[in-house]
Amino acid sequence: MNLTAEETALLEGQHGRAAQKAMQILLALGKIYGAERMLPVTSVQIAGVSYDNLGEAGLQFLSEMASGGGRARVLTTLNPAGMDVDNWQALGIPADFAAKQQQVIDAFARMGVVTTCTCTPYLSGNLPHYGEHIAWAESSAVCYANAVLGARTNREGGPSALAAALTGRTPAYGYHLDEARKPTVTVEVQARLTEVDDLNASMRFGALGKALGEALQASGVQAVPYILGIETASLENLKALCASLATYGGTALFHLPGITPEAALHQPPAERLVIAERDLQAAIDELNQAASAEVDFVSLGCPHLSLQEIAQLAELLGGQRVRKEFWITTSRPVKHIADRMGYTALIEASGAKFAVDTCCVVAPIRGRFQALATDSAKACYYASSKNRFKTVFKPFAEVVQEALR
Ligand code: F3S
Repeated sequence: MNLTAEETALLEGQHGRAAQKAMQILLALGKIYGAERMLPVTSVQIAGVSYDNLGEAGLQFLSEMASGGGRARVLTTLNPAGMDVDNWQALGIPADFAAKQQQVIDAFARMGVVTTCTCTPYLSGNLPHYGEHIAWAESSAVCYANAVLGARTNREGGPSALAAALTGRTPAYGYHLDEARKPTVTVEVQARLTEVDDLNASMRFGALGKALGEALQASGVQAVPYILGIETASLENLKALCASLATYGGTALFHLPGITPEAALHQPPAERLVIAERDLQAAIDELNQAASAEVDFVSLGCPHLSLQEIAQLAELLGGQRVRKEFWITTSRPVKHIADRMGYTALIEASGAKFAVDTCCVVAPIRGRFQALATDSAKACYYASSKNRFKTVFKPFAEVVQEALR
């Protein structure tokens, strides 16, 4: 690989042990994928932050990188951790887990990483623009960055994202290059998505992500869908679609004519796929595995809620009391604005709990509940596969009703 003088200096250890290790990781990755050079990145987002996923080996790696002089060279933020850093006791997180999770966050902080723990960094100040090369790791955010923002990122692993942060570089391959960004399949959506209001339509966008993602997986190719049949989509709808498509299809980029910025650069490919109303309904039915009577856990905010969603939640609760454990997951900066607007007080008065910095997937809650109600197709996937919960998959307002029932 052709390295610049600065990259060679990093590799030779002239900027410290951690930066040298980081450069070695990127070089190895670049060789695997046939990259000819490194690219400068302007933004990094690191996943694998929960101690539940990292374990002791992961914590040790981070501590060594921090002690080895590791320092983020570009704006770097974190994916959700395994707990609300300020409010973990109220969520029933064990003290020994909390201590380990705090050590993880402290190690990142020592490296100059911004410890805003969120999967929607684009709502909290980490917002790259069109064409910017970045290195993000959270799959839903990667899809959002590539498709909606028109930034360029592969789906990084935890170590490669950290390596990008400590060097400000990433190998030039995959979605950084024009070739990989071309659409490979045209998808005709013949299903109702946006006749309902934005808030409740997000669940249907999630169902579309599941139906389409699984169809793409079945075709066995890494696809970039060019999606026809969607005329409008809010930010919240798109974040739901990105999360679900990435989860069920491994999709990191799609084009939506009239909505996403790169669609205008391309023509719809000849290969076609149809997603009909019955496909959407089948996806919804598959995720409804439990009756309301079985629901003992309710969560909204996968991906993390926007301020708009929090405002609507406060209105829907309207002074009523919830009767089930109800987690509202969002980022710390968005929660701060919600505090100021009075939404937090209204929501907490209902008995619902903010679970900031974390979510119902990465928190250590395996086996703690029987059935989760949510409007997120991604949360349903991990509730079943990771936490062994049954799921109830409904639109936003009906999920709130589940909590009140
Ligand atoms: Fe975010 Fe957790 Fe869902 S990281 S996308 S809220 S699984």
